[in-house]
Amino acid sequence: MNKQEVLIQAEMYVRSILEEDSSGHDWWHIHRVRGLAKKIAINEGADLFICEITALLHDLADEKLFGDEEKGLLSIEEWLKEHGVCQESRTHILTIIKTMSFKGGNRKPMETKEGRVVQDADRLDAIGAIGIGRTFAYAGAKEELMYDPSIPVRTEMTKEEYRKGKSTAINHFYEKLLKLKDLMNTDYGKQLAEERHQYLEVFLERFLEEWEMK
Ligand code: ADP
Ligand code: NI
Repeated sequence: MNKQEVLIQAEMYVRSILEEDSSGHDWWHIHRVRGLAKKIAINEGADLFICEITALLHDLADEKLFGDEEKGLLSIEEWLKEHGVCQESRTHILTIIKTMSFKGGNRKPMETKEGRVVQDADRLDAIGAIGIGRTFAYAGAKEELMYDPSIPVRTEMTKEEYRKGKSTAINHFYEKLLKLKDLMNTDYGKQLAEERHQYLEVFLERFLEEWEMK
């Protein structure tokens, strides 16, 4: 297996599937997560191939895309096999992808350094200016309001509620975005998250002030 070649193939594969997506899982999210994962991996001394390939494939098992997480995982496994990725790496990659999701209060700790790196990269792309943009884009795609002051703020949602639940873009900050800083795994990831988190707080404060027509 030529690792560089597999990465190029994976990029083309994921790109062809996610190019049209506008719900926050678009190709450019994958591109950024891969870039962030690479940066953190170099800093943490993690295996670059595992981090990059996992970042590239990480959203293909999302039930929002295929309606079924198991199906998504199986097709990732098939793809890796076809491209000559060994059993040990396949298991590693799939375990990370399964453990990664935030939804439903999934707080199972990552068992490997590579897992911690890719999860941090995905979380970083959910905060900061990009995270804010993605949240509003997602809310629009789901026909959610950007804000509704008559709905009390909810900070916890079960998996079921998360799946069905109507939220608002602003409530999503409290459900998820503002929590991510404290969930970061790696020192370098924490450092990057800190700045992005501050940006979220500034944005939120300003948004709520303007809401009051200040
Ligand atoms: P990820 O691919 O980062 O794991 P998700 O699949 O949970 O993220 O969601 C894709 C994007 O949409 C993320 O930026 C996330 O924060 C945002 N998002 C998820 N659920 C909601 C929601 N109910 N309202 C607004 N934004 C959301
Ligand atoms: Ni993602």
